Amino acid sequence: MRILTGSVGRKILMSITGQLLIIFVLIHLIGNSTIFFGPAGINAYAEHLHSLPPLVWLFRLVMLAAVSVHICYGVMLTLENKAANPGAYAVKRQLKASFASENMVWTGALLGCFIVYHLAQFTIHGTPDVVVGMDAANRVDVFKMVVTSFGHALISLTYMIAMVMLFLHLSHGIPSFLQTMGWNNDKTIPVFSTGGKVISAVLMLAYISIPVVILAGLLKL
Ligand code: HEM
Repeated sequence: MRILTGSVGRKILMSITGQLLIIFVLIHLIGNSTIFFGPAGINAYAEHLHSLPPLVWLFRLVMLAAVSVHICYGVMLTLENKAANPGAYAVKRQLKASFASENMVWTGALLGCFIVYHLAQFTIHGTPDVVVGMDAANRVDVFKMVVTSFGHALISLTYMIAMVMLFLHLSHGIPSFLQTMGWNNDKTIPVFSTGGKVISAVLMLAYISIPVVILAGLLKL
């Protein structure tokens, strides 16, 4: 199909998969925020989430497909852009180039590494810090797991650095997808650009607040 092979089609697919991932990041943040209500909050949330296994697996497959397309086409676009515009001359021609826009492939790669680590830790429970157990209501104790892991300063620091990568990636990704969808004109471009940075900063700070609050001892077992 032309949409899968043409460069415009690929950009659109990158944009759509990027939007799916942003929606996930938003929903995941709302879910994670239930940790501020203690074990009753996040353990009940996790229990609800896992109460329909076929739906969980459907969601995981959709996310896996979205991430795979996003990464493959992201790498292809970067290589194509490099081949088409080699050298410093091309960099000068880029519109509103920024650190974030020029390093999308690197911030994306670091986020990919973070997600692999994060899944190994909290989904597969395969890292040594993870404490798996049940709470008083016989639910999986996600609260204890997260609080124990984030109690290690190095783990919290890793998350904070990953969230800075998320900020950088989204601060260019959000205006970029709005532009790809064709909703841009002279008036909206600066709004998209500032809006992208503000939304990304809010997401980063909200995610970072979890390890910070735990390290500060405000959320404890
Ligand atoms: C403070 C930051 C974060 C915390 C505390 C956190 C917590 C968790 C926990 C507890 C789970 C396991 C859920 C369960 O199986 O019940 C999980 C899964 C997951 N997280 Fe996070 N997360 C954070 C940030 C992120 C970010 C920034 C991303 C993506 C960019 C992300 C992507 C995922 C994915 C893809 C899963 C797997 C979902 C599944 O099992 O299907 N997380 N997270």
